[in-house]
Amino acid sequence: MANPQTRAAKISRRVLIPAATLPGSPGRPSQASPAVPPGIATGTTAVGRPVESVTYGLLVSREVVPTAEHFDVVVIGGGPGGYAAALYGASAGLNVAMIEKNKVGGTCLHVGCIPAKELLETAHVYRTVAEAKAFGIDAGQPEIDWSVAMGRKQKVVDSLTNGVRTLLKGRKVTVYDGHGRLHAGRRVTVAGGESGDVELTGDSVIIAAGSVPRTIPNFDVDGEIVMTSDEVLSIPRLPSTAVVIGGGAIGCEFASMLADMGTQVTVLEALPKILPGCDKDVAAVVERSFKKRHVEVRTGVTVTGHDPGDGSTVVHVEGADSIKTDVVVVSVGRAPNTDDLGLDGTAVQLDERGFVQVDELCRTGEDRVWAVGDCIATPALAHVGFAEAIVAITDILGEQPLPVDYPNVPWGIYCRPEVAFAGMSEEAAKQAGYDVVTSKHRYGGNSRAQIVGETEGLVKIIAEGGPDGRAGRILGVHMVGPWVTEQLGQGYLAVNWEATVDEVAQFIQPHPTLSELFGESVLAMTGRSLHA
Ligand code: NAI
Repeated sequence: MANPQTRAAKISRRVLIPAATLPGSPGRPSQASPAVPPGIATGTTAVGRPVESVTYGLLVSREVVPTAEHFDVVVIGGGPGGYAAALYGASAGLNVAMIEKNKVGGTCLHVGCIPAKELLETAHVYRTVAEAKAFGIDAGQPEIDWSVAMGRKQKVVDSLTNGVRTLLKGRKVTVYDGHGRLHAGRRVTVAGGESGDVELTGDSVIIAAGSVPRTIPNFDVDGEIVMTSDEVLSIPRLPSTAVVIGGGAIGCEFASMLADMGTQVTVLEALPKILPGCDKDVAAVVERSFKKRHVEVRTGVTVTGHDPGDGSTVVHVEGADSIKTDVVVVSVGRAPNTDDLGLDGTAVQLDERGFVQVDELCRTGEDRVWAVGDCIATPALAHVGFAEAIVAITDILGEQPLPVDYPNVPWGIYCRPEVAFAGMSEEAAKQAGYDVVTSKHRYGGNSRAQIVGETEGLVKIIAEGGPDGRAGRILGVHMVGPWVTEQLGQGYLAVNWEATVDEVAQFIQPHPTLSELFGESVLAMTGRSLHA
């Protein structure tokens, strides 16, 4: 298998995220903070317990002043980045506080990955029942009871939220309800929530403030006609028509879900293709599938505004026909949620888009302050937040973590057909100067795909070409088709292990499985093959 030294060597090869100044003494557990953090009123005890104030020698009152609790780590934000830092840190024996102003679980659990995938599963079940006749099962024309569908979605969300809360409690993480702000000296204030006004200090602080949906001019979000992912996931009824602005990951998931449940969908994408971050062959399969399902995809367009009427609106597109629609879903990316984090008197810096600037170990410019998750300019994926949380905690423990290898993280998009990939696309590999060998095989020839009746899609392997033209190291694995988000694992390992085609081709794939297509696509690159 690949030389283990390459893994370590990678660290020095990686491109750094625009870095802030390095903290003075990275990776070293700090000395305990001063007992009296700056900013606590003179006259309190060292830890800010109730004090007796004395005026002109008389005892006139007993006042309660904020208590500065001290922790090994204070985490601002309780989404995937923040709660992962809290759980991982606590499991390593650190005394952790976590501050969340809304609900523990953040975007992913409440208005992102989990509810979106749950509703996509509703669409899948609906489709399966509607198409069951092909299997000899006549269940009639299915109907959707939207309130039951939304109830199930909420049940899954609530159950997972309780799960995270239980884990935090079990690991003795102190959770504060309120808005956290960072001040000089790693002093963190909590305000505006059920925990009241509290002051904390930490040997280390992790900022995990997350992100919010981006919006565009002339499309003010009203939650009724113009919505972002935050509102669509709680939509009271299925619309007859929808315009989705932005054909990225979120846009394609909503377009797919709504179309499968009977909504007439139009996707408006500014760039020349939908899913611009994906390999072109993969994006083309999704676009073809959308067209077959009567999703209108318009690329290279500019939306200029809309004219709302009674319960619907008309979306204007520059130089093209306007579109009348019940709802507009704006899915044009996400912006960091860093407007109100305090930060005065600290060396934490934001870039021009508002992302917290960090180095490759997620360290900010302030000594012993890290930032992870969607509030830094790395892929806005929950699992990337998990990985960054582990890096930050490992650094706090002084254990020399490996940085996250951002170009090779796994991606999953849960539209139909699903998309999953790790590593370079063909275009990116060529641009990086590689001689590229590719292998592309379709699910149409895969036995399990025929059995389950989902033959749309392909697996594409991108490998480095050797001087003899033979395929060498696997640079990228790109999949589109049935359950590919569950199949990416071995492709992700191959890319990140820096495995070669010859090495991976040795491995046996269980038959009949969808994942055979990955093995067969790699085997075919050796110049010999079985079914592919
Ligand atoms: P995105 O960056 O993936 O896609 C936004 C799309 O909107 C781009 O194709 C862009 O060209 C287009 N766009 C921007 N402005 C536009 C305009 N004015 N008119 C028309 N098109 C315009 O962002 P998206 O889909 O909102 O997702 C945000 C982030 O959330 C992603 O970066 C991804 O990291 C994460 N995410 C991941 C998912 C997954 O892995 N399953 C699912 C959903 C989101």
